[in-house]
Amino acid sequence: MPSRRNFLQHTIALSGLAMMSPLAHAAAPSPATRIIPADGRRLAVVGLGTWQTFDVGTNAAARDNLGKLLSRFVELGGEVIDSSPMYGSSESVVGDLVSERKLRERLFFATKVWTSGKAAGIAQMEESLRRLKSPRIELMQIHNLQDWKLHLPVLREWKAAERIRYLGITHYSRGAYAEIEDILRTEPLDFLQINYSLAEQESARRLLPLAAEHGVAVIANQPFAAGALFSRVKDRTLPAAAADHGCRSWAQLFLRWILAHSAVTCAIPASNRIEHLEDNMAAGMGALPGFEEQKALARMAGF
Ligand SMILES: NC(=O)c1ccc[n+]([C@@H]2O[C@H](COP(=O)([O-])OP(=O)(O)OC[C@H]3O[C@@H](n4cnc5c(N)ncnc54)[C@H](OP(=O)(O)O)[C@@H]3O)[C@@H](O)[C@H]2O)c1
Repeated sequence: MPSRRNFLQHTIALSGLAMMSPLAHAAAPSPATRIIPADGRRLAVVGLGTWQTFDVGTNAAARDNLGKLLSRFVELGGEVIDSSPMYGSSESVVGDLVSERKLRERLFFATKVWTSGKAAGIAQMEESLRRLKSPRIELMQIHNLQDWKLHLPVLREWKAAERIRYLGITHYSRGAYAEIEDILRTEPLDFLQINYSLAEQESARRLLPLAAEHGVAVIANQPFAAGALFSRVKDRTLPAAAADHGCRSWAQLFLRWILAHSAVTCAIPASNRIEHLEDNMAAGMGALPGFEEQKALARMAGF
């Protein structure tokens, strides 16, 4: 029985269809990438969330594990790391570990502004850049739309000043979709981060087509519905036919179902376990599934 890592390496070796990410190391495995409509750059399709998992403060053992996890993420061609001032010490932990391991140039930092008021927003973003040890970052997002009308003009100024490369908004709940529809129609954005998974499919009906129409890249958050998807299949064996669609685990099936949507630029599963990270990264290797395959994957998962 091959180990998961051996399987991953084998998969990578066979994945001639995968496109090399521009940020990926020449000798590293090559994940599939999708275009950021704002400027045509490509991004690896599986990233990394940090909510809860990176909020470890000064715990040395936890930091050691997360440092190894980040190195492995980069080895496997991962780019997007998503954080927020809402996630406790996560931004600081990411900033410290990435700096110690000299990984910064290989990564795409996404964080958020999560407060009310213009001055408070600016102060919080300055603090985030300090924590991330980065004078500029790739993506600043307005967390859960909080005070977005005030923050958006500031994000535009920061983008013009090249302190951020892209700007965007985030949410995790369908209750916000009506407002997001209005924003997508009226405000130029680079990124929308939204919940999209087999358990929560409504964004594909209401938001993803609008994002594609307006040239907005999409980051799918809560790709496992915060773990709830695993509970739904806990008594079931993965159907053998899943292998025909590049899936060797339920996690890969859940992620490849998301990545089958052409409007999705990247999904950001969260885990502090290296074997889960490897499992998740394998979902983004090789040719991605299309619409018909997405339906087949949903049927296999019982949706
Ligand atoms: N409004 C917003 O902006 C917003 C809202 C929510 C989330 N987010 C972002 O989205 C990220 C992801 O969402 P999330 O953290 O809520 O949850 P998630 O990624 O949907 O699910 C995380 C759960 O899945 C498990 N898991 C991960 N990989 C696995 C694997 N290969 N096999 C089995 N179990 C696996 C994890 O357990 P283990 O730890 O045991 O692996 C954990 O219980 C967040 O971290 C955050 O960055 C943003």
